Amino acid sequence: MSAILVASNRGPVSFSLSEGGDLTMRRGGGGLVSGLASVAADTDFLWVCAALSEADRDAAAQAPGGRLDRAGHGTGPVRMLDIPAATFHRAYNAVANSTLWFVNHLLYDTPNSPNFGMRFRREWESYRAYNRAFAEALAKDAAADARVLVQDYHLTLVPGMLRAVRPGLRVAHFSHTPWAPPEYFSLLPDDVSAEILTGILGADHAGFLTARWAGAFMDCCEALLGAEVDRASRTVTHEGRTTRIGVHSLGVDGEAMRARAREADVEAHLRALRDKVGDRRLIVRIDRTELSKNIVRGLLAYQEFLTAHPEWHGRVVHVAFAYPSRHDLPEYREYTAAVQRCAKEIEDEFATEDWDPLILNVHDDYPRSLAAYRLADVLLVNPIRDGMNLVAKEGPVLSERGCALVLSREAGAADELARDSLLVNPYDVSGTAEALHAALAMPAEEREFRCRKLAVAATALPPRRWFADQLAALDALSPLPR
Ligand code: F6P
Repeated sequence: MSAILVASNRGPVSFSLSEGGDLTMRRGGGGLVSGLASVAADTDFLWVCAALSEADRDAAAQAPGGRLDRAGHGTGPVRMLDIPAATFHRAYNAVANSTLWFVNHLLYDTPNSPNFGMRFRREWESYRAYNRAFAEALAKDAAADARVLVQDYHLTLVPGMLRAVRPGLRVAHFSHTPWAPPEYFSLLPDDVSAEILTGILGADHAGFLTARWAGAFMDCCEALLGAEVDRASRTVTHEGRTTRIGVHSLGVDGEAMRARAREADVEAHLRALRDKVGDRRLIVRIDRTELSKNIVRGLLAYQEFLTAHPEWHGRVVHVAFAYPSRHDLPEYREYTAAVQRCAKEIEDEFATEDWDPLILNVHDDYPRSLAAYRLADVLLVNPIRDGMNLVAKEGPVLSERGCALVLSREAGAADELARDSLLVNPYDVSGTAEALHAALAMPAEEREFRCRKLAVAATALPPRRWFADQLAALDALSPLPR
């Protein structure tokens, strides 16, 4: 039995099968996992996650009592849930990533999608089953009065399901994404939006990364559920229960990042990048090839900047990291192709024998991206919408040249970093092109001064603090009717 439990779709470790048939463990991927993994080293909690591959399933089946030890990857046990592959696919790809992600990032191309017909109903049933598997595992492993921290849009129904079977537990839900305003969230069928909202309201505490996303969630509860919302005390009361709404920003662990960025593999990439870039100025972007990251418009802005400012030809290089993401979904495969087409157009239009205006990296390469952060003069972060965006925080922490930050006003990070960045409307390609120019033209002292302030803001709330705040929020609950 555990006193603290964390539930998330992706876990801290994943497995692969070697040619000889042995299971090898490595650290799991994704922003949430990196943040939580750094906390896991000094807090003892049970991490409940989904088995994401056949190798994960094998490892889970072999673990004594179903608990894996994440030895060498932080301390403490992991329970990987063996959810049938078809159920997992429908819950993760169809509902979580193609529906809830699209709704909360405002990604629908509404004349053509979404279509909530019979097929969606089957997918929704799988999402319920997947959430039920988590709720059952948590109910089984949680000690009396345990604190349970449920993460993200994959698991919106878990708090309500868990409360039904273990009303004595203290449950928090945290959304790492933005939240849509009611007029967009109501694209979902009424019963589905109600089930999601009441699912999260099954928690004692529902956390968001910014006041904007928390406000949108409260607006949805009021408009779509008829819940009673008190914005001053940030509480939502529905069907006799009150849920506190919390705002907990997330930053980076500056010390750990700087130490990692000084390791030998990063130094080697740094030397190679320096050789390539020479004394030219460097614009960097680092993203998963994710629809909300707006990579195509970022490239179009760079193209327009080069057209409008020929004085920069031969004097600037744009290094764009666009890592593979969610290739099971056709939209993501098409988007990856669009990014590559756009990059080729820029090459064809501007490259000369001794100048490569754009270097596009499409393979996952963390040490190489750390080297790019160190060398950046300008960091471009232009998502359509983003819960927080940690790239905007990592860059200023690692930059050695004092990078200027061109930042979308729709990223959660803009709430904290607006004053010292160049804010852009992510749809405004010309505005973004001009911001790139302004960033490159900014006097070095001003860039360095702003960058230092950005780094201070970025490291104010490291994951350790964010995690402690979640637990403290649950400890502070007792006066509310439960
Ligand atoms: O933004 C929220 C988040 O959970 C990130 O932590 C994570 O990178 C992403 O969404 C999920 O990505 P994936 O589908 O690759 O697990």
